[in-house]
Amino acid sequence: EFGLKHLNYTYQEGEGGIADALSLAEHFADGDRVCVILGDNLIEGSIRQAVEDFRKQPKGAKILLKEVHDAERFGVAELEGDRILGIEEKPPQPKSNYAVTGIYLYDETVFEKVKTLVPSRRGELEITDVNNAYIREGTMTFAHLSGWWTDAGTFESLLRAANLVAQS
Ligand code: G1P
Repeated sequence: EFGLKHLNYTYQEGEGGIADALSLAEHFADGDRVCVILGDNLIEGSIRQAVEDFRKQPKGAKILLKEVHDAERFGVAELEGDRILGIEEKPPQPKSNYAVTGIYLYDETVFEKVKTLVPSRRGELEITDVNNAYIREGTMTFAHLSGWWTDAGTFESLLRAANLVAQS
C-alpha cells in the first residue's frame, strides 16, 4: 500500500535505552546520516523542511522541539535565542516548556558518541546524552515542530493519540 518493498529490522534485548537501540542500526546506516523516529511518537505535520535543512548542515545533528504543558515528562531544551544550551532528561523543574520530540537527525558520528555513554540513573543509555554531546561540540541545531505531537507510551497518552488521529 505504501510502496514499501524491503524492510530491515533488528531486535533490542532488554531495556538498554534508546541510544543502545540506535547502536544496533550502525551496520544498517553504513556510514551515512540517519533519521531516528521513536515508534511511539505521532505527529500531525511534516518533517520535510527540517530534513532538507539538515541535509545542508555540514555536520552535527538536528532535533525537533514542541512546546508542551507537561515538560517534566520529557527531555527539555534550555534555549537562548536560536541557541540550544543543553537538554535535561525529565527535570522536576524544567527550564523551558520545550520538549525534545522523538525525532532526531544525526550525522555519521552518532555511533561513536553512543559508544562513549554510560548508563543513566534509570540504567539506560540516554538519547539525551547523545544530544548533549552534539551540543557540547557546538553542532546541534533545532527546529520547531508544527501541528500536534504526542507520544503513546502510557495508557493515557495512547488514548490521547487515538483521539488526535480520530479527529484529524
Ligand atoms: C524519550 C526521551 C525523551 C523524549 C521522549 C519523546 O523518553 O528520553 O528525551 O522527550 O522520548 O517521546 P522515554 O520514552 O524514554 O521516557
